[in-house]
Amino acid sequence: MTENLTSKRRVLSGMRPTGRLHLGNYMGALYNWVRLQHEYDCFFFIADLHALTTDYASPGDLRAKSLDVVLDFLGAGLDPEQCTIFKQSDVPAHSELHLLFSMITPLSWLERVPTYKDQQEQLREKDLNTYGFLGYPLLQAADILLYKPDFVPVGQDQVSHVELTREVARRFNQLYSSAFTPEVAAAASDKERIKAEISENVIEAELLPEPKALLTPSPKLPGLDGRKMSKSYGNTIGLTDSAEELRKKIRPMVTDPARIRRTDPGNPDVCPVGDLHKVFSTPETMAKVYEGCRTAAIGCIECKGWCADSILKEIEPIAERRSRFQAQPDLVADILSSGAAKARQRANATMAEVRAAIGL
Ligand code: TRP
Ligand code: SF4
Repeated sequence: MTENLTSKRRVLSGMRPTGRLHLGNYMGALYNWVRLQHEYDCFFFIADLHALTTDYASPGDLRAKSLDVVLDFLGAGLDPEQCTIFKQSDVPAHSELHLLFSMITPLSWLERVPTYKDQQEQLREKDLNTYGFLGYPLLQAADILLYKPDFVPVGQDQVSHVELTREVARRFNQLYSSAFTPEVAAAASDKERIKAEISENVIEAELLPEPKALLTPSPKLPGLDGRKMSKSYGNTIGLTDSAEELRKKIRPMVTDPARIRRTDPGNPDVCPVGDLHKVFSTPETMAKVYEGCRTAAIGCIECKGWCADSILKEIEPIAERRSRFQAQPDLVADILSSGAAKARQRANATMAEVRAAIGL
């Protein structure tokens, strides 16, 4: 390999194990991850510990749900030769760093994270007055800082968590960097990196570098009822729905409300089916949709058929690849265990520095 690995910038992101993913999950995250894996040194993980922050009372089959997500990762084209795929609970350092961060984080920082109050309101049926739920973004900070990524690809809703992560890193560095001399650093396990960074003088060898959020462009993706596609609304199209299921779901979808009769002209810009076309259809199909809808030359049934065709073109190869992996459970187990081994190596290197800096 001629490429200088140390020069490849690092990316990390995670996803909660919600079971099989829907198109919104795919377009909002995974689709971008698949493209990032070629450009960056990527770590992608299943945040199974995070699932417990809201579902501790009934976690369901977390193993099965995590496996479903991993299969969707692989189906979508994450390649274990190109990126590191692992499960959060397979790397105990996430829990350890979370604990150490809990010592230095003021409660007020956590209480003011917008998702804290929002989620408590939205999930009223659950008792989320727990220590773990308040600490959700702090666990996320640990997830992130362990790997010292340059970038964290997330959607808009997660930006406040990356902001908190940066604040925690800053506070940690302020508190413990004075003890983090090159000698201490060299005594910790990540000797090579520290030496390289200091001698090249490229990067200051900061204890925990502050990462940046990489806002993933996420197109507007409506669900079947026209609201945002979301599992809690029950309006989703599955990433690996069969052709039959997909067509059955799209046929009764809401359309431009002004288009009541077949002879009424419509406007794809105010139609959820039009929005799906914008994400999945080719420019040629788009042109046919705009022209045909506005002049009432096509019916909505026909238009929805084209929409289903376009989505299938994207997802059929994913479903195929997914079932190939599903038929090889040993291979998937190997992917996860070697992913976890790589992740542990990276995470343990950071932990060695962290422990040395704190004086543990
Ligand atoms: N909180 C994220 C979400 O709900 C999932 C997540 C957990 C994550 N840890 C992370 C994302 C670390 C990015 C980096 O989508
Ligand atoms: Fe929507 Fe297509 Fe019907 Fe126009 S023709 S209203 S874009 S479904």
